[in-house]
Amino acid sequence: MYRQSNRISIWLLIGTLLASCIQIAHAVFEDQAGVLDWHHAWIGTPEIATERNGLIYTVTSRNVIAALNASTGEIEWRQLLERPVASFKMNDDALFTITDEKLPLLQVWDSPSGKLLWQDRKVDDLSKDAAILDAVFLSTGDVAILTSSGSVVIRTKDGGQHWRWVPELSSSTTPVSLAEVDGHVYVINEHKGVLSNSLQVHKLDTQHGIVQDEYKLSASPKDLDLVKVINGHVVWIEKNHIKTNALGSSDISTVSIDSFEAFHSKAIISDTYAITILDQGSNEFLLTGQFISDEQPYHVAAVLKVDGNAVKLTLNLGTSFYSHTVSAHGNTVAALQRQSKNTLTLLLKHTKSDAETAKSIIEHSSDHTGEVRYFSLLSTVPLHTLVVYDDGSMRLYHGSDLAWSREESLAYIADSEFVDLPEEKLWSQMADETSEVPEQHSPIQRYIHRLQSDIAKLPELPQWFLTRFSGVMEALQKKRELTPVYLSQQSLNDSETPSMIYRDNFGLRKLIISVTSTGKVVAQDTQNQGKLIWAKYYPNVQFEQVISVRAATVKMPPLIVAIGRNVEEGTMVLYRLNALDGDEYYTEDASIAESFDPILETPTIATKVFTLPVQEPDERTQILALYDAGTTRVYIYPDTEGARSAFSEFLPSFYFSLVNKDSTAIKGYQVVEGYRGSLTASAVWNFDVPKGSTLVALGSRSPHEKVASLGRVLGNRNVLYKYLNPNLFAVAIADPQAQTMTLTLLDGVKGSVLYQVTHEDVDTIHHDVHIGTSENWIVYHYWSNGAIRGSAKAYQVSVLELYEGSGENERIDSKSLSGYDNQRPHIRADTFVFPYGVRTLGITDTRNGVSTREVLFGLNNNQILGVSRRMLDSRRPREKPNKEHQEEGLIPYGPIPDERKMFLSYSLEVLGMESIITAPALLESTSLVFAYGLDTFFTYRAPSRQFDVLSEEFNKSQLLLTIVALVVAIFVTGPMVRRKRVNTLWK
Ligand SMILES: *[C@@H]1O[C@H](CO)[C@@H](O)[C@H](O)[C@H]1NC(C)=O
Ligand SMILES: *[C@@H]1O[C@H](CO)[C@@H](O)[C@H](O)[C@H]1NC(C)=O
Repeated sequence: MYRQSNRISIWLLIGTLLASCIQIAHAVFEDQAGVLDWHHAWIGTPEIATERNGLIYTVTSRNVIAALNASTGEIEWRQLLERPVASFKMNDDALFTITDEKLPLLQVWDSPSGKLLWQDRKVDDLSKDAAILDAVFLSTGDVAILTSSGSVVIRTKDGGQHWRWVPELSSSTTPVSLAEVDGHVYVINEHKGVLSNSLQVHKLDTQHGIVQDEYKLSASPKDLDLVKVINGHVVWIEKNHIKTNALGSSDISTVSIDSFEAFHSKAIISDTYAITILDQGSNEFLLTGQFISDEQPYHVAAVLKVDGNAVKLTLNLGTSFYSHTVSAHGNTVAALQRQSKNTLTLLLKHTKSDAETAKSIIEHSSDHTGEVRYFSLLSTVPLHTLVVYDDGSMRLYHGSDLAWSREESLAYIADSEFVDLPEEKLWSQMADETSEVPEQHSPIQRYIHRLQSDIAKLPELPQWFLTRFSGVMEALQKKRELTPVYLSQQSLNDSETPSMIYRDNFGLRKLIISVTSTGKVVAQDTQNQGKLIWAKYYPNVQFEQVISVRAATVKMPPLIVAIGRNVEEGTMVLYRLNALDGDEYYTEDASIAESFDPILETPTIATKVFTLPVQEPDERTQILALYDAGTTRVYIYPDTEGARSAFSEFLPSFYFSLVNKDSTAIKGYQVVEGYRGSLTASAVWNFDVPKGSTLVALGSRSPHEKVASLGRVLGNRNVLYKYLNPNLFAVAIADPQAQTMTLTLLDGVKGSVLYQVTHEDVDTIHHDVHIGTSENWIVYHYWSNGAIRGSAKAYQVSVLELYEGSGENERIDSKSLSGYDNQRPHIRADTFVFPYGVRTLGITDTRNGVSTREVLFGLNNNQILGVSRRMLDSRRPREKPNKEHQEEGLIPYGPIPDERKMFLSYSLEVLGMESIITAPALLESTSLVFAYGLDTFFTYRAPSRQFDVLSEEFNKSQLLLTIVALVVAIFVTGPMVRRKRVNTLWK
């Protein structure tokens, strides 16, 4: 095994040398964009979708409006809104949205380009607090808006005002809706009278808003939301009857819901009905009713149409339909129904003819996606339907064939992890060695055997070398031609089996495993533009966390644990999955099989789940701890006998801290063993957030981070020793009244305050605070109003550096180093003006932590800015740098620059960023970076560009020859060294 690793390190050395010939994307050049990095733009799951001129216009649950190319699913344009959309309508060249909030925002968009034409919350100048209630496009292209004060305002497509009409309404009148019929605008209000209620209708002329007619309909609609205007008729529900009025006449026609077969004899027992308009401009609507039978609710649905002055049945959908699986387009109504586990039936009914409904079958298994969440008949000739499933994926079918799909579940990522892949060579080599070397062979024999096989492989070496070398070069040179990005955003096909992928020599290829709030676990290849490797769906589960519990080791696959809640059962679920194929992982060890089940479902909902620095011995997985705040109990996972005994050694040093439920305090706990081995967390310290203040940000070091050096070497060769307390964390507390923000450094074991600094004049109400922590330093970003002398009205980023002593070469007495008992760090701090607002931040991570780190700021403008730690350095000299400064490589003090080359995302818009995670490659220079939120973006970053990058002009062939010579030398001298070593062993 020793020899094995020796060999590996030789290969690594070669690999590292080789890689230094290659420019890894430390700054993405124009021609490299999209080669190694990839950006997936997502929209979320459609809630409304219609097709016009080859584009699918949609509104999604991620507050995105978008136009997709109907033949490929590519995004033509999209806009991320701040609030959910309550109303969406479109005509031939524009569309508008009204957001769902107290003072709704009306936005009018140009539909071919997606550009905002105009927007307004207050459309009526005279009654300023009137909110927008409803709006429609008129046939002239203008927008007619109804406000909560009852006024009607007509705006042109470009926002100019044509006319407005203000009714005289009494306090018992409520505006309901408006519509255009035959060149007139009808306004409908509800009037609540003493004896009876009525709907009041005003008829206005479209040109000037002059009242032409006014009448009342005797009506007591059950719910104003169920008063709809359908094809020139007002339709409402009143006591188990559907009533209609053709606008312009005062006749009311009534039909009993009971008269429709599906609702027959049920109408008496139910009154929960809903009317859904199926398509703008269609005269069809969907009537649904909910009933209770044997305490189980079920739905009945029928498609009805307003025909003349009557309401008639178009299609009886019976009991197994839900409103979201019915859709209409023009004169066709479509309904989608699950027929069997692997098939869906699409029913089509032409509403103008009495022809039978047409049926077609769509092959689709619910195993991978769950059931249909939304369905839209986009067009009938050709037949296009869009289906959104519970997992968040969407698929477009041409007839019954799948045309394209989008894995929109990735717009709902709750957590992501990088997972290392196994190396193919090692994997197979290990298999060889274990099979071919019988046990009775002596070390010498084995050594000779190995030597022979090494020598036998020697002639292959130059070839191996060149293929590796050119392989990477090729990958770098391959442009977008490979596959368009949108193809890698497709969902996996039902029958596809995951392809086995392996690590490359530089550890640049990994898996990104993401868990989503839609119940999905998705593995993506960092190469191949993030193509999906596998995906699993768990119905009713909202995932919250994913933890890698076992890295790829030679004989065992890497494992992850996906953690979430089953919202239907109200339980907590943990799934242990093989990271290479997504299958639930069963141990082969029969003795622990029972307590090592891949699925754990428990009514105990853990407040926090964390990874412990201990492995259980049987499967070598990291032990997780689950803390339940309700009972203060702590559980370990897995709970095998081996895990228990490994854990018991760790128990005395098991401390953790947690922000309490309402964020008023941070508590530190120690876990202790109680009755019959049960574990409880007992509070050992408490840090209160002062009254009137709020906790705005927290930051702690990544437990995986490697620190290469314990000190910082200065220009004069002296050393500042880093204060590297693994339990340290930073908390930012804001006092909005006093406009201050206090940053506190706490020791997580003892709860002692190590340092505290208060910044005056900080606006924490309109601007978030973000903290990043690494090694012995903390950076935090906030907005300063700039009233304090010497500070700017700008975003600021401050850095705190922690050292063991105030002076050079000063160290804390090593005897007390454990937990830095009562030792406070010496702090050096500085603040820099920062050019942008920030949504999230991450810090690059490299293999041994030698490379200078870079802080990755996810900006409000949807870009990612990489700022080297050298810029965020408290030692940047304010005066002209002297020789010592230069020797130390210090940059003169100044604001953080806003330079194009610092943008990882170059010109891309990474919308809705919520997190940035990083992982090391095997190359020391390179860190993998993944940002997610709405969009997902992956790239490589080499933060210290200087140290292992050679210029383009470098003579690579000469280097290659040198390396070949070097390798030959290693192979010649290697055996001599080994012989010597073996000989020493024999002495
Ligand atoms: C959709 O994409 C196809 C293929 O790229 C293209 O030919 C077509 O013009 C696009 N459609 C629209 C409406 O842009
Ligand atoms: C899934 O199947 C369709 C149709 O058979 C095919 O066109 C598509 O390429 C497949 N998708 C993937 C990701 O393999």
